[in-house]
Amino acid sequence: METKIKSSRETLQRVSSISTMKEISQSLRKQNLTIGFVPTMGCLHAGHLNLVKRSLETCDRTVVSIFVNPTQFGPNEDLDTYPRQLESDIEKLETLGIDILFHPTQEEMYPAGYKTYVQVQDITEHLCGKSRPGFFKGVSTVVLKLFNIVQPHNAYFGEKDWQQLAVIEALVEDLNLGVAIIRVPLVRETDGLAMSSRNRYLSPQERQTALSLSRSLQQARDSIRQGITSAKVISKSIRQCLSEKEGTEIDYISICDPKNFTKKEEIRGRTLIALAVKVGPSRLIDNCIIEEF
Ligand code: PAJ
Repeated sequence: METKIKSSRETLQRVSSISTMKEISQSLRKQNLTIGFVPTMGCLHAGHLNLVKRSLETCDRTVVSIFVNPTQFGPNEDLDTYPRQLESDIEKLETLGIDILFHPTQEEMYPAGYKTYVQVQDITEHLCGKSRPGFFKGVSTVVLKLFNIVQPHNAYFGEKDWQQLAVIEALVEDLNLGVAIIRVPLVRETDGLAMSSRNRYLSPQERQTALSLSRSLQQARDSIRQGITSAKVISKSIRQCLSEKEGTEIDYISICDPKNFTKKEEIRGRTLIALAVKVGPSRLIDNCIIEEF
């Protein structure tokens, strides 16, 4: 065993071996302790830490994983440059008092000859699934592997990645995984920018430009409140707001059903407005929910 099993919240245990993590989880389960799990790719910010806090509040033990998952990155995406800062992440997690950090190696997660993937269908054909082929296949596969290793009772995911949450919920339900998926609201910077590890790539000027995502959603919300229900009109005004500053490249603006992501013509009933926009080197996403009215 790499580390001994703690009896109370002391210092953080760092575990990289899959078999050790499994042994720890089995032992915790035998002691009837509930395991809360927060999977991440690291470079932790307040959005991630909010998920961790939710787990600490409700579970006996909290496991956070940091693993930059290669199978969810496309060939021309930012796998090599994705920010990695393990030591400062550990400091943040220690301050919060989590129990176990699981940070497996790529070689152990995907050894040579690895060949098994899981794929959630239908809902992955829209939004990010459409513009990032293979992304959700990589996410579902790694999350299933992590669930098998960590064996959590509860797992915490952020609504910032709304579609990812829906994909994980489908995975858990369809494969009878028996893990409770807890949704945690999106956390923003004080000026409205949705927190993201990819915000680090932005220059000060690009960061200003990136504010147009949250601003366009806020304006959409205001217009809908004033009675505009045409998705076409709202979408046009979002596009206008996003295009005001140079350096943005819109991937998608989607006004859709929040469960199956089919496009809506009229904004009636609960509606998701989701955006993906490239600002400088970063592909950013943001969303808001229009509650039924
Ligand atoms: P990552 O982008 O590191 O995000 C880890 C978790 O933090 C996800 O559940 C994500 O939705 C949540 N999160 C990120 N920014 C947030 C914000 N501003 N507010 C609320 N929650 C936020 O998502 C992934 O990693 C990976 O795809 C992963 C699930 C770990 C699989 O590799």
